[in-house]
This record gives sequence, C-alpha cells and structure tokens, in this order.
Amino acid sequence: MKFHVLTLFPEIPRAFFESSIMAKAVDRGIIAYDLVNIRDFAFDKHKTCDDSPYGGGAGMLMLPEPLGLALESVKARRKRVIYVTPSGKPFTQKLAQELSREEELVFICGRYEGIDQRIIDSWVDDEISIGDYVLSSGEIAATVIIDAVYRLVDGVISSESLDEESYSGGLLEYPQYTRPEVYGGMSVPEVLLSGHHENIRKWRLEKRLAKTLANRPDMVCEARRDGLLTAEAEQMIETITGQVRKSVRKKKRPKTDKFSGRSD
Ligand code: ADE
Repeated sequence: MKFHVLTLFPEIPRAFFESSIMAKAVDRGIIAYDLVNIRDFAFDKHKTCDDSPYGGGAGMLMLPEPLGLALESVKARRKRVIYVTPSGKPFTQKLAQELSREEELVFICGRYEGIDQRIIDSWVDDEISIGDYVLSSGEIAATVIIDAVYRLVDGVISSESLDEESYSGGLLEYPQYTRPEVYGGMSVPEVLLSGHHENIRKWRLEKRLAKTLANRPDMVCEARRDGLLTAEAEQMIETITGQVRKSVRKKKRPKTDKFSGRSD
C-alpha cells in the first residue's frame, strides 16, 4: 500500500514513516510513501502558498494552484483523495478498515484556515475529521489516520493482535498484566495464573463488556444492533448491570447516625 502526503511541512509525517513498526513495514516493502512538498509547486519567487479569503474573514487559505499541481504530480485522479479537516466525517475503526483495502491513498494536509473549496469539489473523495477539536495542522491528523490504516494491511502486524484489540468485535479491550506477579501491593488476577483457558476467555469477555458499558455504552448498543453479542455476552451484561444497579442503590441509602439511630 502507498501513502502520498501533500503537505507544507513534510518533516512532521516523515518522523512517523521513519520510526518503529512503520519503518520496518517500509523496509519490508509492504508500505511505500511519498511526501510531496506543496511549496515546490508555488510559482512566485516567494513560493507563496496562501492568501486571504474572498468576502473577508480572519486567517489565510491555501491557494488552489500549487495544491492542484501537487495533486496532478501524484496522479491523484486515479486514487482515493482524503482531505483531513475538522469539518469532515468522523474517523472510525470501520473507516480505517475500509481505507486499508485501497492500493494507494492521497492525503491533503491543510494549514491556516483551510483550502479553497474548488480543490475539494474537484479532487477530494473523503473529508475526514479525527475528532471534535481543532488542530493547527492537518499533518498530525493525516498521520493519525495513516497509523490506524497501515497496521491493518496484511503482514504489518499479526492477525492475532488485531483480533483481540480494542474495537474488534465491537468491544473495548480487556485489561492486561505482565511480570511481576505483585506490583505496588497489587496482584495479577488469580484466573490469569490458573492456565484454565476457558475461564480466562470468560473473564476477558466479562472485562471487555464491563469496560465498554462504563466507557462507551453507545458501542454496546451498536454491537447488539450488528449482531456481534452472543447469548453468553448478553447474560454477562445482565449480571454486570445488575451489580452496578445494586451498588448505586447502596450508595444512595441514607446513612444512619450510629449514636442516635437517626438518618441524615
Ligand atoms: N485539521 C485540524 N483539526 C482537524 C481534525 N480534528 N481532524 C482532521 N483534520 C484536522
């Protein structure tokens, strides 16, 4: 798979492509990349890439001509073009999986107040946001998306790791422990030391469900809608929610004054 990144600051994504697992995937020929400096396509002697918006308003916009030439240089007409912007559709694991099936992706990294709408209308296939906040740079957002996508490409990491991680099967990940057995007075849960595979599987499923219910109840509803929850998981959810209800009731019960017997 090949990533083309169109940017005014190639050094930001370059650090990512040259590090860690990505660097290995590039070495092994599974991933290729191309960092295109939009400034190389500016045509005045100052290499200008931005100007003020028509109609007034704060900030500067990226000029369409250098960006259009940069897109032509990577033959973007025949590739899926992504513009990273806080006004885009939300980036999700599902979208990462879909993008990981493309042969090539082109990313446009905006700076300043964004890019000219005519570039979006004529070149962009997807406008994607990585979250409901505004970053000063599209480079960071594009790198986040590339990270989530490339690791799903066959051969980058083991399929076993992908199966069990957060979001697989529509649930968050279970807690993990490594040596030592006791750390800071806290022990590794007994069941994980038992070697009993079936009990470990059940414990992990229950922990995934409890964590997802606590942190992302919306994901449990979605997993149910998508038919991802087994009868066993539904039974565990009943038990977990019953326990939570009980503990909430206990907390709400008025405390009695142990000397007067009066409640407050
Ligand atoms: N550029 C600036 N903020 C962004 C965001 N939240 N998502 C994608 N691109 C961005």
